[in-house]
Amino acid sequence: MDKNFYITTPIYYPSASPHMGHAYSSIIADFLARFKKIDGYSVYFLTGTDEHGLKIQRAAEKKNMDTLEFCNQISKTFKDLSKTLNLTNTDFIRTTEERHKKSVKHLWTELEKSGDIYLSKYSGWYSVSDEAFYNEDEVEDFEGKKIASSSKSFVEWLDEESYFFKLSKWEKPLLDFYNKNPNFICPESRKNEVISFVKNGLKDLSISRKSFSWGIKVPNNNHHVIYVWLDALTNYISALNYPNIEGDLFKKFWPASVHLIGKDILRFHAVYWPAFLLAAKIELPKRVYGHGWILSGDQKMSKSKGNILDPLQIIEKYGLDPLRYYLIKEVSFGNDGNISQDRLEDCVNSDLANNYGNLCQRVTAFAIKNCNSKIPDNIKFEKEDLNILSKYNNNLDKLRSNIDNQNINSYIEYIVNSLFEANKYFNDQEPWKKKDNVIRLNTIVFTTLEIVRKITFLLYPIIPESSLKALKIFNLSEEDIDFSSISNNEFLNKGNNINKISILFEKIEKKDD
Ligand code: ME8
Ligand code: MG
Repeated sequence: MDKNFYITTPIYYPSASPHMGHAYSSIIADFLARFKKIDGYSVYFLTGTDEHGLKIQRAAEKKNMDTLEFCNQISKTFKDLSKTLNLTNTDFIRTTEERHKKSVKHLWTELEKSGDIYLSKYSGWYSVSDEAFYNEDEVEDFEGKKIASSSKSFVEWLDEESYFFKLSKWEKPLLDFYNKNPNFICPESRKNEVISFVKNGLKDLSISRKSFSWGIKVPNNNHHVIYVWLDALTNYISALNYPNIEGDLFKKFWPASVHLIGKDILRFHAVYWPAFLLAAKIELPKRVYGHGWILSGDQKMSKSKGNILDPLQIIEKYGLDPLRYYLIKEVSFGNDGNISQDRLEDCVNSDLANNYGNLCQRVTAFAIKNCNSKIPDNIKFEKEDLNILSKYNNNLDKLRSNIDNQNINSYIEYIVNSLFEANKYFNDQEPWKKKDNVIRLNTIVFTTLEIVRKITFLLYPIIPESSLKALKIFNLSEEDIDFSSISNNEFLNKGNNINKISILFEKIEKKDD
């Protein structure tokens, strides 16, 4: 089996600067990508910006800017954010790039060839904010205007010539596919939503617009631009050089392992995208995971609502790793979550500073003082040492499956428990009372150092920068991190020097303490 892993985030609209919601999806994707990498996979991790359509055109008009210039400017803030978040993305795609336009036009031609496209007229509701068409039963009145019930965004009435995709034709094949691939849509609750939507009957989908020009032209009819969602979804294959399906990238990484998205755009990914792919006879992605929303109060945090929390401010105040750790641990993955600085501070203090940081400092300081600044050589494991060490070996496959099933909270819970256990082990063994028994003292120190090493490998995908800093204790670097080596109880080179490191996480003084 080839060990290849392809993960994507949504490509974000550069209609305004990124906020915590975007940071959230990207951080989760990076966590999964980094895990796969240390588990020996070849990883392709894609993110980017979705730059066409009326939403972007209007945002640029509002700023009195040339549309592409506007996109360049805001897309850059997303690209910069991926650096700030320490993402390991392989690629950053922009839909205004030639490689992407070429790919979208090709896909269009394939859909035309398969008889899935026809020209007609669209009359109905459209939300520019969601770039989505809505049925009459999906909109409601609000202060004399109409809004989409699901997103609460305003809708406008459209009446224009449009190309259609024969979505109705794919109703049965889609249901069959969901049935045969029960893990295609995750989490489970979202899957049921999608299935009932499809079972309710699919109408053909309008896939071109005529009343504005900011988009990719329909091949052979330049009065129309391609519907921005057909354009955007194609990014997942244009990054792999589609239509070159015999090329290395496409062959290696398609179908995608996971499209990680927010639940707001599930229908596009779990219904429209697979239908396009079925029609074009391209294999379907293995999974679409629709996570919950980061809320602000009880509302979705969003650019259009203006209720955003700026990730840059939080990072400046607390550092990146505390934010990554907090978002991965404290939001119950799959569900909505409120975030609060208060809880972030608790997380830093109890998990990162106390349980992890202190353990690293304590055992290193002890080894420097009592083991001549070296990883002890002369050791002999007792039952209690092997007991705690072997627990890791027994859990590696469980941790792997946590990642493969996006049970993110279980993965981190395992780390938190391991940290408690490690601290307890060091306390209970009381190495400071074993100064007349060198072998015992050495063994306790060696065991604790191995545990620190193992936990640091586990933490690496979550808090990469701090983990690398901790690994300096052992003179280890990023290339040394290998998930399967967590089962090795004697990975550390005995007799090697141990380095003192500066404090990993400063405790935050809380005002009300
Ligand atoms: O929908 N909580 O772009 P977008 C959690 N361009 N995640 C959130 C969030 C929140 N409050 N707000 C945004 C688009 N996100 C399209 C996608 S893909 C082919 C095209 C995250 O800028 C989440 O992943 O509106 C959500 O699905 C995505 O950003 C929407 O970003
Ligand atoms: Mg949105």
